[in-house]
Amino acid sequence: MTEQTFIMVKPDGVLRGKIGDIIMRIENKGYRIVAMKMLTPTAELLAQHYAEHVNKPFYPALVDYMTSGPVVAIIAEGEQVVAGWRHMMGETNPTLANPGTIRGDFGREWQAEAMMNLVHGSDSVASAQREINLWFA
Ligand code: CMP
Repeated sequence: MTEQTFIMVKPDGVLRGKIGDIIMRIENKGYRIVAMKMLTPTAELLAQHYAEHVNKPFYPALVDYMTSGPVVAIIAEGEQVVAGWRHMMGETNPTLANPGTIRGDFGREWQAEAMMNLVHGSDSVASAQREINLWFA
């Protein structure tokens, strides 16, 4: 079924010059980019985006990481893009992510407290809708 998902190139992905590689993977797979913008997220936006993580021990480090520079926010569309994109990102921890995935190929986890892992992808169709409304309000 055709779906939309919310994708983000996180600050480490932008800093390391991986925007092009990541966009190329989205398009090579056959997903369509329907909206895209660059912004530096505020702590308020992140508190909504990461609502399920706000009380976790790593949350302050996550906010420092995610407000450290610009991100690229993307809406992508395609057949089962939510699950497909999560597969393409690889596991959360770049050290464990399979080679061939974005995190497996480019991730280094050089600041372990906030697990820098280059990209975000919504975990369900419902989350995607919520995140798209939040980031592209
Ligand atoms: P993501 O899964 O896209 O969204 C939540 C983010 O929090 C995750 O990527 C990591 O960047 C970070 N994160 C998740 N779990 C941990 C953890 N155990 N330790 C540090 N950072 C984490």
